Amino acid sequence: MTRLDIISIFPDYFQPLTLSLVGKAIGSGLVELGVHDLRHWTHDRHHTVDDTPYGGGAGMVMKPEPWGEALDAVLGEDPGDTVLVFPSPSGERFHQSIAQELSSRGRLVFACGRYEGIDRRVIDHAATRVEVRELSLGDYVLNGGEVATLAMVEAIVRLIPGVIGNPESLSEESHSEGNEGLLEYPVYTKPPLWRGLEVPQVLFSGHHARIREWRRGRSEELTRERRPDLLGPRDAQA
Ligand code: ADE
Repeated sequence: MTRLDIISIFPDYFQPLTLSLVGKAIGSGLVELGVHDLRHWTHDRHHTVDDTPYGGGAGMVMKPEPWGEALDAVLGEDPGDTVLVFPSPSGERFHQSIAQELSSRGRLVFACGRYEGIDRRVIDHAATRVEVRELSLGDYVLNGGEVATLAMVEAIVRLIPGVIGNPESLSEESHSEGNEGLLEYPVYTKPPLWRGLEVPQVLFSGHHARIREWRRGRSEELTRERRPDLLGPRDAQA
């Protein structure tokens, strides 16, 4: 069983996690999910979570006190095998291999920052108690960590053993190790002719080696066109 906890000022963002594959994983007991409202750990009348930045500048910074109390409560006395994730545009780039690694951990806690970010001391202090990963979804800026957390949770949970019925499908998809880091080949289903467009003949051949070769070729072609950065230096020049 994998335990997921999410701390955010917008707990409603995580309603979609009750749907679809992640919802089923929760329903079947493979995953346990706790969503926590950061404002629960504020003590003033306005439930303040932000303040102006020291040193000046635009925007607001998330105050350390509510985060400190929230993390104390959610992590507990003995965080054990926990990884604490801070989604951030200045984090390490999230990747399939990180999803794979996190899917094998006992417990993940996602701390969703807003505004210009969380007071740095919160992250530095947490790192003395638990493994911390600051992770970015990509080179663009979202309004907060919530959408990044949704994306990362979906990418991680589908890799937990038992969550996907046919685990073979995982090894063939884009960015998976089984696919050698190439993009996935195009796929087709019935009917054989649709709006004048045919399914490639080789797929009807029943010749498994030829089909494998064709798919591999399409994967390489697509990767060269769209993501040459994924190819090794030798292949990229071809
Ligand atoms: N928060 C804001 N932008 C983000 C990004 N690109 N990735 C992760 N968290 C974020």
